[in-house]
Amino acid sequence: MTHVLRSQQFSREFVTRLVCSARIVSKLLSTSGGPVELKSLLVGRIMGLVFYESSIRTRWSFETAALCLGMNYISTEDAAHFSPALQGETLEDTVRVLVGYGLDIIVMRHYEGGAADRAAKVCDDYGYSTHVINAGDGSCQHPTQSLVDIYTMFTESQTAEVDGLTVIIGGDLDHDRSARSLAYLLARYKVKIIFVAPPALRIGSDIKSYLEEHHVEFSEEDDPEKALPEADVVYWTRIQRERIIDPQVKHRTFETYNLSLEHMKLLKPKAFLMHPLPRANEISTDVDRDPRAAYFRQTHYGLPVRIALLLDLLGVCELRGIRADTA
Ligand code: CP
Repeated sequence: MTHVLRSQQFSREFVTRLVCSARIVSKLLSTSGGPVELKSLLVGRIMGLVFYESSIRTRWSFETAALCLGMNYISTEDAAHFSPALQGETLEDTVRVLVGYGLDIIVMRHYEGGAADRAAKVCDDYGYSTHVINAGDGSCQHPTQSLVDIYTMFTESQTAEVDGLTVIIGGDLDHDRSARSLAYLLARYKVKIIFVAPPALRIGSDIKSYLEEHHVEFSEEDDPEKALPEADVVYWTRIQRERIIDPQVKHRTFETYNLSLEHMKLLKPKAFLMHPLPRANEISTDVDRDPRAAYFRQTHYGLPVRIALLLDLLGVCELRGIRADTA
């Protein structure tokens, strides 16, 4: 794999390999001597993180992953204001400058859909071997989040499988790039998806067409209370007011979509609740006490998954060779 741009590029085989590697990494991180072993794997490699939108989880987990692997990294937290974009420099020019410094990887988050594709095109057109990782582009995709999410499903599901699950994806499905990327990735599995969203924020026709082409069973429902009892996994998302243009929709409260302990009573005993975070008020903090609330575990799975992804991208296979016994 050269670049990580969208979830449709991940095969089942790739996900299986990554989940296996992430499990090994997770064990190494908690084993005496494991962190030292990891720290030798990417010494001398350089990662640049260029974030034009805010991030805690994605940026910090990539930066921590770099530190765990002995990589160096350079990070721009608010590139919209602290980069030559402010003077009108194009994304293409900025990327061409950055990759010329010998970066092995650029992790980019941008407010425009397609920004990571444009960065990857610069690398390819000018012959740079730098790998571009899309860390979120507008309302389009967040492919590494979908890898974290699928790892969470493999880890939290009672069957340790994704096939056979009924997954609710709910909230602002028009704008949430994590929800969109997850829907694309779930098309690799034999799942049933129930999209639960207000009528103004339903899932896009591009996703529905893709699911139809891939023979994935899905339905749409406006009322969370009707759908929740059916789910093995609930993936809930924030209403992304900053991306909503219509003022009538932007200022609506959407209270029906705020999950509380009462909603948790509707869930199956072995179902679990995910959320890419950050949350606003769409999941009450009371819910955090319920062991089925998996969203903080989910965010912490981001570290082993992103370590495994960096190793895979940079062609480091020693991990599986050395530690196959621990998988
Ligand atoms: N889930 C996620 O992308 O979180 P951040 O915006 O904090 O990176």
